[in-house]
Amino acid sequence: MPLTGSYQAKVRPAIKCIRSKFCACDLGHLECELILQSPKHSRQPTIGPRRLRKSPRDLLRHKKPPYPLTRNYHIKGYGNLVGATRRTSKVGECSLEFIRSLAWPKTMSRTVLVTGGAGYIGSHICKALAEAGAVPVCYDNLEKGNTWAVRWGPLERGDIGDADRLEEVFRHHRPRAVIHLAGYIEVGESVQQPERYLRNNATKTDTLIAASLRHGVDGFVFSSTCAVYGLPQKEFLDETHPIAPISPYAESKAMVERALTAAAESGLRSASMRYFNAAGADAGGEIGEAHAPETHLLPLATDAALGLGPRLTLLGDDYDTPDGSCVRDFVHVTDLTEAHLLALGWLKRQPAAGVHNSFNLGCGTGYSVMQVLAETARIAGCKVPYNVGPRRPGDSPKLVGNIAHTERELGWKPTRNLASQIEDTLRWRRRMPR
Ligand SMILES: NC(=O)c1ccc[n+]([C@@H]2O[C@H](COP(=O)([O-])OP(=O)(O)OC[C@H]3O[C@@H](n4cnc5c(N)ncnc54)[C@H](O)[C@@H]3O)[C@@H](O)[C@H]2O)c1
Repeated sequence: MPLTGSYQAKVRPAIKCIRSKFCACDLGHLECELILQSPKHSRQPTIGPRRLRKSPRDLLRHKKPPYPLTRNYHIKGYGNLVGATRRTSKVGECSLEFIRSLAWPKTMSRTVLVTGGAGYIGSHICKALAEAGAVPVCYDNLEKGNTWAVRWGPLERGDIGDADRLEEVFRHHRPRAVIHLAGYIEVGESVQQPERYLRNNATKTDTLIAASLRHGVDGFVFSSTCAVYGLPQKEFLDETHPIAPISPYAESKAMVERALTAAAESGLRSASMRYFNAAGADAGGEIGEAHAPETHLLPLATDAALGLGPRLTLLGDDYDTPDGSCVRDFVHVTDLTEAHLLALGWLKRQPAAGVHNSFNLGCGTGYSVMQVLAETARIAGCKVPYNVGPRRPGDSPKLVGNIAHTERELGWKPTRNLASQIEDTLRWRRRMPR
């Protein structure tokens, strides 16, 4: 018996709402009235609001839609929801691109292999995939990950360099896509142990790419880093900035990007997501950042403020920046995860058999480490104790992204600012398993 329900477009932004209320297969059954309306201040020609009695699936299939299909139009809908797996009483508003990215045909496998899914960002991606109706299979050797973070799909323990184990998992789960996050993440450690980083992050990824090609996945989304740009040659780094890594960690990521470009010749569709600084935690408080040892600023600063960790060490205060500390671009982990889902949809829509593209994931705003400490102190209501230490080898003085390409291509916009990243981190660090 199909469930029915009604909903009304009221909530904004509703990307999260849509994602949590519908699973991908529901979208094909959504009979609704849609209002397409260009947003305020948009330079798009205004054609709306228009009302259409269509299901989103039909809408997306239109050969010649009666309105321009651009990511700048919002869908507002209300009507009946038929055949949904869950009863829902509300919805909201989301970009057309986002609905497109989720509208996977029901007949096809909805499994996504998430390497490194037991880690910080991977676990958030698994949660988002599950909420979007996909089945995230976490593939992780648990060298750094946490089993408590694997809650939204099966855990397959294995190493990305183990070809036999990968073959077994691909055959068993038949993933349609791969999101590849597995790897070592510490810049400083990579300077001490370059071989270890290059082997784990780059050489082993070749094995994963080969398996993905053999099994014909639709898309491969890779966790890269803004560190591939090295020393910035302009204020805001865009994807055309020269690739000039200054640490083995960044070099290992650049090597994978080159391997993916080569794999496009063999038909692989891939996207390299160049993260700036991932921060924050799941708003529901279920998962968050839990590295051991922790080297990232927000967890270290919040722990120091809450008395849950040692004094923070500021890694250099003599950089050529306004206050001498490094400047970074912080992006909320939930915004990051949304970009990965959008990238899967983007890859699916590419006309070419094989393709590789890179996308910056930041907020486009730089904060110095000192500014982050001041903001953390303000929100926590207590000072962040710190010492000044030497610079860390391999660090750039300033890394701030230009995210126009990602916004344009994926229809993505980060919506969670530094304050919400700090609030979520504070909440998570108070309750995380230690
Ligand atoms: N956290 C950030 O700010 C940031 C910034 C830029 C890029 N990245 C990239 O994002 C990815 C995820 O980062 P994170 O912060 O979630 O890291 P994390 O350490 O929390 O997670 C990485 C996971 O990969 C697993 N892993 C490592 N090597 C493996 C291997 N050979 N085979 C199977 N599993 C393996 C670990 O056990 C761990 O669970 C990494 O590739 C990292 O380089 C992260």
